[in-house]
Amino acid sequence: MTDFERTRRLFHMPDGVIYLDGNSLGPLPIAAKERVARMLADEWGEQLIRGWNTAGWMLQPRRIGDRVGRLIGAPEGTVVMGDTLSIKVYQALASALELNPDRQVVLSDRGNFPTDLYMAEGLIRLLSKGHELKVVEPGEVEDAIDESIAVLMLTEVDYRTGRLHDMTALTSLAHEAGALTIWDLAHSAGALPVDLMAADADFAVGCTYKYLNGGPGAPAFIYVAPRHADITRPALLGWMGHQAPFAFDLDYRPGAGIERMRVGTPPIIALAALDAALDVWENVSMDDVHAASIALSEQFIRGVEARCPELTLASPRDASRRGSQVSFRHPEGYAIMQALIEHGVIGDFRAPDLMRFGFTPLYIGEQDVQQAIGIIARVMADRLWDKAEYRKKALVT
Ligand SMILES: Cc1ncc(COP(=O)(O)O)c(C=O)c1O
Repeated sequence: MTDFERTRRLFHMPDGVIYLDGNSLGPLPIAAKERVARMLADEWGEQLIRGWNTAGWMLQPRRIGDRVGRLIGAPEGTVVMGDTLSIKVYQALASALELNPDRQVVLSDRGNFPTDLYMAEGLIRLLSKGHELKVVEPGEVEDAIDESIAVLMLTEVDYRTGRLHDMTALTSLAHEAGALTIWDLAHSAGALPVDLMAADADFAVGCTYKYLNGGPGAPAFIYVAPRHADITRPALLGWMGHQAPFAFDLDYRPGAGIERMRVGTPPIIALAALDAALDVWENVSMDDVHAASIALSEQFIRGVEARCPELTLASPRDASRRGSQVSFRHPEGYAIMQALIEHGVIGDFRAPDLMRFGFTPLYIGEQDVQQAIGIIARVMADRLWDKAEYRKKALVT
């Protein structure tokens, strides 16, 4: 059994805060603070440029990729870290389209994160080969898979509602129709069990600043199935993905396997924070995390529905069809969320009317949820949200 009392002590949490936004930005693991300070002083400070060799900086994207891989069912050597998730989506899609050259359609859904769709739009425009991005309702994906589809590109857990796609079933349907799959695991990795090998996914991408607690702007990851890794031609021919970066050849030769998905110089300070954040997962079972997050989410839904009739559940009611976040709708959702934040319950808001709450048992327990329900009930009953200042939109919602 995972000891959640122990994991809770591994995070810094400001006093008076109930943090229900780990689905957007995980809190600071105490070890990350120490590791980054040590990295700055001992590695950058003392070793200077030598750190690339002496401190193993050059190997971090692969080494840490393997650590992330263990959490998502990816074997050693199939995951590499770097860049942002948007870039990794672009790389995965470019590779997948080239591996399926006789097809024209990229199938996605309206629950996908906009950047994934924008990346596809930009790539399709650049390729100018007549590709088409087809975006259907989440419930219509299954029926839309046919022999025109080159690539099925989906986010497993919907960023707004937490709705969970069946990765294994959809991947299998896609393969039967001759399509390849790209799974965005931004809201899955660290939230629920993912087994990329068992699902037979072709490509997967994800970020590490949400459930993996790597910090704001932490590097993304990309997974390429072993059967594609040595044959796929990368779209972004960065020198770090070259077979021999320090040969400085004028011609590009792709690195072996997943190495070719590297682009430029890795963000070593950010990787140090992430490396320490991943220590939290030692002796943690993803099944336990998922089960505990379901229990907390159910407690939350029950409590909020009983005490706040004006809020409408926007997430699937069936826990087996959700990731680890719960969303409620209200036309004044933005103002309500600002009032909640001021009263110590931190969640976030997604336009037009969704309030999102994440349930991450590594640092959230039953008592926090009970307390949060009480605060939400008071903010709603006393209309504490009904103030002009709470309606003023900030840059980030
Ligand atoms: C599902 C999903 N995909 C992509 C992104 C964008 O990632 P990035 O800003 O790291 O490029 C996000 C950001 O939250 C996301 O939730």
